[in-house]
Amino acid sequence: MAPMRIALPKGRMMDQALELWDRIGSGIAPEQANTRRLILPSRDGRFEFLPVKPSDVPTYVEAGVADAGVVGLDVLLERRADVLQPLDLGFGACRMAVAAPEGQPYPDLPGAVTPRVATKYVESARRFFAERGAQVEIIRIAGSVELAPLLGLSHWIVDLVETGRTLKENGLVVVDTVFASSARLIVNRARHKLRLDDHQRLLAELEAALAAPALTTSSARS
Ligand code: PRP
Repeated sequence: MAPMRIALPKGRMMDQALELWDRIGSGIAPEQANTRRLILPSRDGRFEFLPVKPSDVPTYVEAGVADAGVVGLDVLLERRADVLQPLDLGFGACRMAVAAPEGQPYPDLPGAVTPRVATKYVESARRFFAERGAQVEIIRIAGSVELAPLLGLSHWIVDLVETGRTLKENGLVVVDTVFASSARLIVNRARHKLRLDDHQRLLAELEAALAAPALTTSSARS
């Protein structure tokens, strides 16, 4: 049987995903970890991991060239991919928030000015304000969004907040929460039907690994 292909988002979330697969006995061999190879076999041959840009994970899975993938809910909601989403993997927790310079009014600006909102997450921001019936002008920014309100390009931002450090160091505060995000397992609909047994086995294994208590320093010592 051909290995199941799993698209993984390069970066910290990929390391956490590989740790999870390690716990089900299907991690990658250590010598594979630092290669530039684009298809990494699991040591038991059951899986092939594809390290890709986070925003490309839904593309590979939706097209069915990967059976499944791991991606943050933030990316998934932005892409609106038609994939199954069977499991919250728990790691990569952060929240999508509206933030503003301290003292900046929210949700209304004086003089009925239309608020300008800078963000990388245009779709999520548009939906959030539309659901509230709030008129805003969305400004698409590719990175370091926190700069926009400091320079007067925007009044507010919509961005991910993890530790809150970036906001704090730039004098910004959270004024609203858009949604809580974390890593999700996503699965191609057709591949799921085609390889139902393999998919169900993987889901059960991941669920069990997530439910098992994580190794703590004390239990590792004893
Ligand atoms: C993300 C996010 C914030 C920061 C939040 O940026 O867009 O800028 O992390 O993390 P914190 O709350 O722990 O400070 P990323 O590192 O992806 O860089 P980018 O904005 O340039 O894309």
